[in-house]
Amino acid sequence: MTALSAIIRRQLGELERAAPQIRAVLNAVGDPANLTVGQALLLYAATLDLAPDLILDLGTGKGNSASIFALAASRLAHIRSEILTFDMLPSWNETLTTRLKDFRFLGDYVRPVVGDLTRFAFGERLKHANSVVIFWDAHGFDVAEAVLTRVLPASAASAISSFATTSAMRATLARSSPPTEASLCGAE
Ligand SMILES: C[S@@+](CC[C@H](N)C(=O)[O-])C[C@H]1O[C@@H](n2cnc3c(N)ncnc32)[C@H](O)[C@@H]1O
Repeated sequence: MTALSAIIRRQLGELERAAPQIRAVLNAVGDPANLTVGQALLLYAATLDLAPDLILDLGTGKGNSASIFALAASRLAHIRSEILTFDMLPSWNETLTTRLKDFRFLGDYVRPVVGDLTRFAFGERLKHANSVVIFWDAHGFDVAEAVLTRVLPASAASAISSFATTSAMRATLARSSPPTEASLCGAE
């Protein structure tokens, strides 16, 4: 059994309970191309199971993943997980005040970091984290370089769980070497 299927088995009850709210939040964000319901359920289950005290959401976009992490964090109130969501644009605050106005409580769990994430002082923040979830959903060679050479090494003392979309990896591989069949398999 893979680690992910074990997580799903453990979190099945929570997933059934939360599925309607997860769908409602995704509908409110209104950007299904960037996170499907299935992917959102996986992120939610993994977050509950890993109970991280820090989540790095690399690429806010319209805010699908940040919203799902916030929903999970609201369920993990005893952990007080902090979610840092990164984007060049102030998109989280915009989404929160418009699309997510019926889910304003999600804002209590999310700290948006606006600007180029490759310039963020990850080492400083990661020093104080015990368990970190990283969702790598921003494309490009510079982001990949930051993740691989700064974020992951700075997390070395923490329990790290990272999830990357294949499109983020594909963009990286396209710059570094020709992608192989094996390196690109997996869900989008
Ligand atoms: C695929 S979208 C993220 C989708 C989002 N995770 C979701 O679930 O809806 C990628 C985002 O990463 C942002 N991004 C790309 N490179 C970045 C960088 N160097 N610093 C900050 N944000 C970046 C883009 O502006 C874009 O909004």
